[in-house]
Amino acid sequence: MLDSLSFNNKKILITGGLGFIGSNLAIRLVELGSQVTLVDSLIPKYGGNLWNIEPIKDKVRVNISDVRDIHSMRYLVQGQDILFNLAGQTSHIDSMEDPYTDLEINAHAQLSILEACRHYNPDLKVVFASTRQIYGRPEYLPVNEAHPQKPVDVNGINKMAGEHYHLVYNDVYNIRSCILRLTNSYGPRMRIVDARQTFLGIWIRNLIEGKPIKIFGDGNQIRDFNYVDDVIDAMLVVSQDERSNGKVYNLGASDKLNLTDAAQLLVTLYNGGEYEHVSFPKDRKAIDIGDYWGDYSLIENTLGWSPKTLLQEGFRKTLDYFIENIEHYR
Ligand SMILES: NC(=O)c1ccc[n+]([C@@H]2O[C@H](COP(=O)([O-])OP(=O)(O)OC[C@H]3O[C@@H](n4cnc5c(N)ncnc54)[C@H](O)[C@@H]3O)[C@@H](O)[C@H]2O)c1
Repeated sequence: MLDSLSFNNKKILITGGLGFIGSNLAIRLVELGSQVTLVDSLIPKYGGNLWNIEPIKDKVRVNISDVRDIHSMRYLVQGQDILFNLAGQTSHIDSMEDPYTDLEINAHAQLSILEACRHYNPDLKVVFASTRQIYGRPEYLPVNEAHPQKPVDVNGINKMAGEHYHLVYNDVYNIRSCILRLTNSYGPRMRIVDARQTFLGIWIRNLIEGKPIKIFGDGNQIRDFNYVDDVIDAMLVVSQDERSNGKVYNLGASDKLNLTDAAQLLVTLYNGGEYEHVSFPKDRKAIDIGDYWGDYSLIENTLGWSPKTLLQEGFRKTLDYFIENIEHYR
């Protein structure tokens, strides 16, 4: 279980710290008294946004650099207690159009980060944000950690490599590492510019801008969603529990639902707007995984994490944030 006190005065490095999850994590850690450094490249069109850290901008160190820069990373890992390794190329579509950039960031750079840890700070703990995408199309549901890994896109392959580098460095060099396989995560500060990253983001933007939500296909695909605060709880729990070293955990939610019902819930909570079904773009259909929901009983039973925020509440908080801050996210 989470011991909030243990983060006080801890030195923490977050790669991808200006992105959606990284910035929310930074805000929480500042509240807990940590000394937080954020590294982010702010590559245009990715999820990084300086507005994300507006509430803590004077309380964190921000280093605008690229995790592919081994010289930066060698310097940045030094003296840190925990590394939350969240930087990533996160668009599945982009990984198919430009596979080499995805390879560089999600695989090659991960190896460089771990090499920097091995040589310059082997005592830090690493938490790596992986993805349920590595499973590919589920062969059974709910998907547990033992499910075969057969990614349907280049991003899934490279994230899988990123995971395995962490596990090997844990086992061979004792760089204590834990992998969390995230499912659809949402909340304030997520990227809502377009559908490159997640459909939920553009749905929220369309709703607020008075445009219909577009659901690809029949909308019957089932998904599970985690509110960002729950994802952060999981990251904090594994970061301080030695039993998580070398382990892989799914996250997930109990209130799974299909996409049409998710769109309907958003419309209801927003008190307006509409959704429509449109045909699946060919390039997206080719990498769609169909129904997915994850079995998160391993982390629940061993480390005591379970999601606390139901969709209704999480969607409400997310809408409230973007209604107020929409001009910073277009
Ligand atoms: N949000 C989700 O639903 C979800 C699901 C599965 C996995 N994940 C993983 O969680 C992590 C965080 O995701 P997020 O939703 O916060 O995405 P995000 O795009 O909002 O954040 C990623 C951040 O990484 C930064 N970044 C990208 N390449 C970089 C580089 N080369 N050097 C330095 N910074 C770089 C981006 O600028 C961005 O700020 C990612 O690794 C992603 O694969 C997220």
